[in-house]
Amino acid sequence: MTAAPAFGSQDPYLGGNYAPIDTEIVAHDLPVIGQIPRDLAGVYVRNGSNPRFAPKGRYHWFDGDGMLHAVHFEDGRASYRNRWIRTEGLAAELEAGHALWTGLLEPPDVKNPRGPYKDTGNTDLVWFRGELLALWYMSGKARIVRLPDLETRGEERFGGTLPRCISAHPKVDPRTGEMIFFDYQPLPPFLTYGVISPDGRVVHYEDMGATQPTFQHDVAITPNYSVLFDFSLRWDDELLRRGKRRIVFQRDRPTRFGVVPRYGKAADVRWFEGNPCFIYHTINAWEEDGAIVMLGCKTENPLAADPYNPPKRRAAPELGHLRLEPIFYRWRFDLRTGATQEEPLDDVVSEFPRMDNRRLGEKTRFSYHGRFEDAPVMRFDAMLKYDADTAGAKVHPYPPGWYGGEPVFAPRVGSTGEDDGYVVTFVANEATGESECRVIDARHPEHEPVARVRIPQRVPTGYHTWWVSADELAAQRV
Ligand SMILES: [Fe+2]
Repeated sequence: MTAAPAFGSQDPYLGGNYAPIDTEIVAHDLPVIGQIPRDLAGVYVRNGSNPRFAPKGRYHWFDGDGMLHAVHFEDGRASYRNRWIRTEGLAAELEAGHALWTGLLEPPDVKNPRGPYKDTGNTDLVWFRGELLALWYMSGKARIVRLPDLETRGEERFGGTLPRCISAHPKVDPRTGEMIFFDYQPLPPFLTYGVISPDGRVVHYEDMGATQPTFQHDVAITPNYSVLFDFSLRWDDELLRRGKRRIVFQRDRPTRFGVVPRYGKAADVRWFEGNPCFIYHTINAWEEDGAIVMLGCKTENPLAADPYNPPKRRAAPELGHLRLEPIFYRWRFDLRTGATQEEPLDDVVSEFPRMDNRRLGEKTRFSYHGRFEDAPVMRFDAMLKYDADTAGAKVHPYPPGWYGGEPVFAPRVGSTGEDDGYVVTFVANEATGESECRVIDARHPEHEPVARVRIPQRVPTGYHTWWVSADELAAQRV
């Protein structure tokens, strides 16, 4: 059955497969079309927005309470479960029986005694030193989630060494085990940056000197450097001084890329200028011949309803104030000359890119993206596997009416090759509500899926994913 628009809302991000669900279930030994490979062992977890109560004011897809969906692969069998992330905000709203916070599209409710924003933990996941952490896109808590039951086990404070909060998309260096993170806030210091040691203590923490709240959503790392952003998409300075907020795209202002040594301060940042743009997600970065190469998904004209730049396509997805036309892109920041070289690697619109995280910070070829349908709402109608060396793509289209989300790369047990493994993603049929977890051969994504695991409830479209291998699961600390 098609999901009815939630809460009677006409908002497209509360209807179709964006409509939230209100059940938490566990199901074992799921029916499978095809066969689950025995060398796929671990848990695929996905975070996402799933509002429990009708929104107070206008709704933005980023506002919903965090809900996790997970498929555990073991011995050729699969089980599924889903759970809300137990945040203080959700607990308070359950107690009240209705929403207590307004969302992103409303002015910050500074009179709210619980604070103007609800930290939903709904955005990202990262495995760090034996714990799965759920993170929010803004400055929030790192919440420990236990596997496989998805129970929220409180907040990771890193032994009391984390001065403030942490934003989504920290990066774990697979060589050193350090976690490189940033945090952006509406109040100064607007952007902080830091490093957490492999034994879980914040060992570096700096105010990076941003002069207004930033739109930094991600960070890229190499073995020696991190890349921060100062986008042409920013708040109108004049209005900001008067306490008002409007997002502007300053198309005559270059986007700046801040290359900072891993343990650097604001004064150590080297700024590289690039074409005006906005980036939600980077893919990878590495050092090569005295330069830093970075891959990511770049949107050239990120403002919705921008009279200067109509969408390039018939229809481009919009989300809040932003238009999303991201394409696969490569930058090269020359550390000797200070010059930036940049080029698109495709003209197809795709986002939520993932790679083989065992290789984060070293040169990689392959990334896995969700391709956008030409529609005003984000719908991923295929999975693309890109090869950055050849700028070629292999396409894994979903059947008509079925849409996916962020694909994760799950290495085959014992594998070392970059694409030696599987791509795993949830897909759902928007008309019928049927949902599946697809297991795709990463080397041959153009083939039919190796396995289609039938999920006994609808899995709404969500955000970021993580693959926790069986070995990591066995070493879980919580
Ligand atoms: Fe993100």
